[in-house]
Amino acid sequence: MCGIVGYIGKSAAPSILINGLRRLEYRGYDSAGLAIVEDGKIIVAKAPGKVVSLSDRARDTWPTERFSQVSYGIAHTRWATHGPPTEVNAHPHLDQSGDIALVHNGIIENYRSLRARLEAKGHLFLSETDTEVLSHLIGDRYDGNLFQAVCDALHQVEGTFGIAVISVKEPGKIITARRGSPIVLGIGEGETIIASDAAAILTHTQRVIYLDDNDIAIVTADSIEIRDLHNVPVNREVAELDFDSSAAEKGGFAHFMLKEIHEQPESLRNAIRGRLDFNLGSSVLSGMGTSPRDLAEINRVVLVGCGTSLHSGLIGEYAFEDLADTHAEVQQAAEFRYRNPIISRSDLVIAISQSGETADTLAAVREANQKGAFVMGLCNVVGSTIARETGRGIYLHAGPEISVASTKAFTCQVTVLLMMALKMGRSRRFSRQEGMDFARQIEAIPALVEQVILQNDHIAAVAERYAKNEHAFFIGRGPLYPVALEGALKLKEISYIHAEGYHAAELKHGPIALLENGTLVIALANDIPGKDKTLGNVEECKARGARILGIITAGDHEAAEIMDDVIEIPACHPLVATIPTAVALQLLAYHIANIRGCEIDQPRNLAKSVTVE
Ligand code: M6R
Repeated sequence: MCGIVGYIGKSAAPSILINGLRRLEYRGYDSAGLAIVEDGKIIVAKAPGKVVSLSDRARDTWPTERFSQVSYGIAHTRWATHGPPTEVNAHPHLDQSGDIALVHNGIIENYRSLRARLEAKGHLFLSETDTEVLSHLIGDRYDGNLFQAVCDALHQVEGTFGIAVISVKEPGKIITARRGSPIVLGIGEGETIIASDAAAILTHTQRVIYLDDNDIAIVTADSIEIRDLHNVPVNREVAELDFDSSAAEKGGFAHFMLKEIHEQPESLRNAIRGRLDFNLGSSVLSGMGTSPRDLAEINRVVLVGCGTSLHSGLIGEYAFEDLADTHAEVQQAAEFRYRNPIISRSDLVIAISQSGETADTLAAVREANQKGAFVMGLCNVVGSTIARETGRGIYLHAGPEISVASTKAFTCQVTVLLMMALKMGRSRRFSRQEGMDFARQIEAIPALVEQVILQNDHIAAVAERYAKNEHAFFIGRGPLYPVALEGALKLKEISYIHAEGYHAAELKHGPIALLENGTLVIALANDIPGKDKTLGNVEECKARGARILGIITAGDHEAAEIMDDVIEIPACHPLVATIPTAVALQLLAYHIANIRGCEIDQPRNLAKSVTVE
């Protein structure tokens, strides 16, 4: 989604800003822009499309020799919400006087009424954006003190924001603030970097400060002063980034997605390391913050998330029921706060989010907290808003995920959920021996995934046979049903093939009407309970001319015979099988998208972290 970079220091700001935007490209965006102050004037360069277009535009605006003279500025990648991705709608936006420039992530919900008020005072707006209203509002409030003007303006806005603001009247200073949209400040030697994502900071410094909601900071090259919106100073800790900059490189792979798929054995080992106790037949998850007695008292587990994280929650639902005899249910984070969720103090609410910034999941966390539930986060990004607001939870340790399509975060989410269910299971029905057996199954997950990745060439060959299909149906049962949903999501988001996931039994209740000669059906027919019924559903599809790609257990000749093509998954526990099966589907989606020439790491219209509702 939108990205912010601000720089103030001793180096040439335009190139640092553009390089910072490049580091944020993975988040998804459709236009870019930057603003600097030169000779007492704000100069803006903007371009629709990619950062490379902005870079060309900036070079036209400032000949190289002038680059080095500019020591501060702000920049932005925009993911269009209000108005199409045109040059005029791209950020930064100026105030009426042209002296103040602003970049903004988030949404100003009451922008229409604010705009009408400002128009009545004679303000002229050039763009369709909500953001331009905020820049005008700041200009309208400006009375010689930029900090105060920003504060006053922010008191009037409803919605979410992460912003950075400069003014020609107060050179050498950037004002930045957040509410519901992250801002990180990187503390360098005689330079400060402002960003919406640490990825834009790590080449400069590892020392960062995360702003909290309603914090507003005055930033110079060598000072950071943070206050709240009532002008009261606040203290925020300096944290060290735990981020290996090689994670932001493709490391010889054609795409980040392929790299991240291949990283899974390692990321899964990191997610598991030190968290299994074979003696007790349980898991050690200190972040859960509950004693076995507390766990035994949990009445119900509610899992919330969006997209891929919702799908891992659906697998978690099976795991808590099967392993821990606990009532579990998944709720779409986007619906949670709008439907009077019945939540009590004995409920454990698990918010699942790779980025830890997804607006809907964050809102669900706040609602669950409000209702007094025991709330935990399952996040990948350390220090993210959901991780901080839940206060307790478990990090995935999957490592930075750059590709918009989530892969390694998903398999780590499922693995951590299995460990949580194991721990809860031991406080309830699981014997020590059963716990030990299941812990061994979890320990084997990285090796199972390795065996699937070894089939990469075979999966690429299978992809060749199906890459021209325009429709695909994924079917599965039991814990493989959510994997069918996830397989369909992965395929549609990166290849743009119309793909749907169904419970295998559901197909004949409607979707089967769509099957015709050559329609692709991907049947998750691993040898787990219900397999025979899935094979029956496959026969129904074949009878209507569908071509069947079977994901089956290695050596299952009976299943193989029915299928047109197969990908084999090593035999394992049904819950564990979800993970290598998902990896096979990730590779399949990747190769199909690659054959179709799609822009795999940044699919059209998508953003890596969805910070708007
Ligand atoms: O960061 P989150 O896990 O909260 O993100 C949730 C979804 O936006 C995300 O999983 C999305 O569905 C991905 N594009 C899936 O690949």
